[in-house]
Amino acid sequence: MAGTEEELLDLAEHTAREAGALARRHRESAVGVVATKSSATDVVTAADTAVEGLVRSRIVAARPDDAILGEEGSHRAGTSGLTWVVDPIDGTVNYLHGIARYATSIAVEDAEGPVVAAVHAPATGETFTARRGHGSWLDGRPIRPTEATELATALVGTGFGYRADRRARQGEVVAAVLPRIADIRRAGAASLDLCDVACGRLDAYFEQGLQPWDLAAGRLVVTEAGGLVSGLAGAAASEALTVAAAPGLHAALVALLETLDAARLG
Ligand code: IPD
Repeated sequence: MAGTEEELLDLAEHTAREAGALARRHRESAVGVVATKSSATDVVTAADTAVEGLVRSRIVAARPDDAILGEEGSHRAGTSGLTWVVDPIDGTVNYLHGIARYATSIAVEDAEGPVVAAVHAPATGETFTARRGHGSWLDGRPIRPTEATELATALVGTGFGYRADRRARQGEVVAAVLPRIADIRRAGAASLDLCDVACGRLDAYFEQGLQPWDLAAGRLVVTEAGGLVSGLAGAAASEALTVAAAPGLHAALVALLETLDAARLG
């Protein structure tokens, strides 16, 4: 690997902060929808495009041999074996509506998975970071998931996709889960939901339909904090399903989700 992991994390963190500052400046002027993707509610703002452009330019300047996979289309091949996985504004709908919960999410992956991660929330100023084998931090302080072991008292985050048919099934799953837990949160930015599991604000989180840029950085933040992230039946977390939880709760939440009708999760 050219450059040390410390250098990669430093670049990821500084780029996420710079990107977040740009998103915030855009937010202070007019924010408007410039395009839609999978449905009329899956929106792209001018800020999404501008922020991804900034991130891309910083990565290309510093790491010309690395690949890039960005939510807004920054796909670039590389030769180094490293891929930067970028969500310029995770929580775009919140951002569009002036709700503070949005973040720039950046991970660097090799053949074994994520190596470093940075998730920066410009509206709060918080930055979550993680480095494989070394831990996870919130603004430089180590973080841990909760000690929760009981689903009945667990605060669980989730999210919904943009397609109406998928949302209908996701609603059925939430209806089945809700009586078995303390309460549910749908806060609108998957990367931050994962970071909230890592630092103990949520006991667990699950969502179907996450894309690589929603998942890459937050997943490393959770696992390096000591939490668990998977799919169902021993599968890895993926678009099919992501379940992230405190270590004492993960198996119970996976088991509960496995008992639900597969068609509702699919
Ligand atoms: C979305 C958010 C949302 C989640 C969706 C994601 P975007 O990402 O993370 O919380 O429920 O599945 O697509 O579109 O704001 O980058």
